[in-house]
Amino acid sequence: MNTTPNSARPSLSTVEVSIPGHPYPVVIGPGARRRFVSYLAPFHLNRTVWITDRNVAGLWGDEIRSLSGTAAPDLVVLPAGEEQKRLATVEDLCRRFVQLGVERHDTLVACGGGVIGDVVGFAAACYLRGVNFVQLPTTLLAMVDSSVGGKTGVDLPEGKNLVGAFHQPRFVLADPDFLATLPERELRSGLAEVIKTALISGPKLFTELRSFVKRHPDLQGPDLAGLIESCVDFKAGVVEKDEREGGLRRILNFGHTVGHALECLGQYRTLKHGEAVLWGLSAALDLSVRRAGLDPRLETDIQAFLAPFLTAIPPLEFDSGEVLDLLARDKKVRRKVVQFVLLRGVGLPVVTPLADPQILIAALDHLRDRMRAGAAPEGEDREIRD
Ligand code: NAD
Ligand code: GLY
Repeated sequence: MNTTPNSARPSLSTVEVSIPGHPYPVVIGPGARRRFVSYLAPFHLNRTVWITDRNVAGLWGDEIRSLSGTAAPDLVVLPAGEEQKRLATVEDLCRRFVQLGVERHDTLVACGGGVIGDVVGFAAACYLRGVNFVQLPTTLLAMVDSSVGGKTGVDLPEGKNLVGAFHQPRFVLADPDFLATLPERELRSGLAEVIKTALISGPKLFTELRSFVKRHPDLQGPDLAGLIESCVDFKAGVVEKDEREGGLRRILNFGHTVGHALECLGQYRTLKHGEAVLWGLSAALDLSVRRAGLDPRLETDIQAFLAPFLTAIPPLEFDSGEVLDLLARDKKVRRKVVQFVLLRGVGLPVVTPLADPQILIAALDHLRDRMRAGAAPEGEDREIRD
């Protein structure tokens, strides 16, 4: 982690992700995408193959052609959506690479949201036993989180992100100009990862986030780049200490244990990833009071901040027992016990084994009731706590 203003272009910042053996820059700011050719130059031995989804191709196809420096780039366009994040898509993609004659020294360019980044990154990790890839994230979620850190992979019907690999990009260009066309629902979904990062990193980022949301209820604004930079800077600091999630990196899963289960339960269609994470954050805060000593007044305050975002999410009916079964497949399960990331306070995450299913059922029932009630502001229902 080392954030520097970019002297050549003052509106750009660079966060260096200093992963041993695989360091790379994340360039952040309006116009960052136009640095593509200069960042590619040092390691580019052959050609680039661009992969995006239909929505991004429709909106940004001309820009892709311009950035690639050719009117007819090698471009693979996938259907959009989380349902595409599956092994069959990786097989299709690799077969397209064979048809296109993609070689080991070619570079794949993942231009899209987290789905494109995760699928292309995984294909890059597997195809010819590994080729270079770079990330041009086009959603808020991908800019603040998924494009950085080298987690790649796909979902199974049995669970989220259950197949994947660690494969770091060669560079990331996070250009908020792309967000001008992003629907508001997707912006709110991306905000979930900003909230997650703020809650585990500390009061400074949480205050910055709250003030941003107050100033820009539509989540658009020139200072979004600063928020993206703060999130990337924090994530870089974590992944460079623990690339493969042996310990510390688990904190980045705050809100994701229940979130992933809800996403899977909705068959990756009902809830967007960030929406599932928002509910997962709400559940994790509840569990944090029950099991990690989080001050209930602080929880109430954070839940009130989450409430307007939660009310906007489509409802998902679920049975707490079903969610419990899905939790048992979480990647953090050790000897059949789910390891939850909980908070002792803002910036104080703690990984806690939760073996007692009754505690989980109580928290899940509470979550389901709040979903049914449309995420009513906190303060009520406290008697449900064990
Ligand atoms: P996404 O990639 O499905 O994009 C959301 C939607 O926005 C899609 O319909 C897409 O076509 C559209 N879109 C993308 N860019 C656009 C633009 N500029 N203008 C208009 N529309 C645009 O979803 P996402 O929210 O970006 O990412 C979610 C995925 O990221 C999940 O699969 C999640 O598991 C993964 N993720 C991975 C990591 C990681 O570390 N690898 C971290 C967090 C999340
Ligand atoms: N988004 C969780 C991680 O990158 O580890």
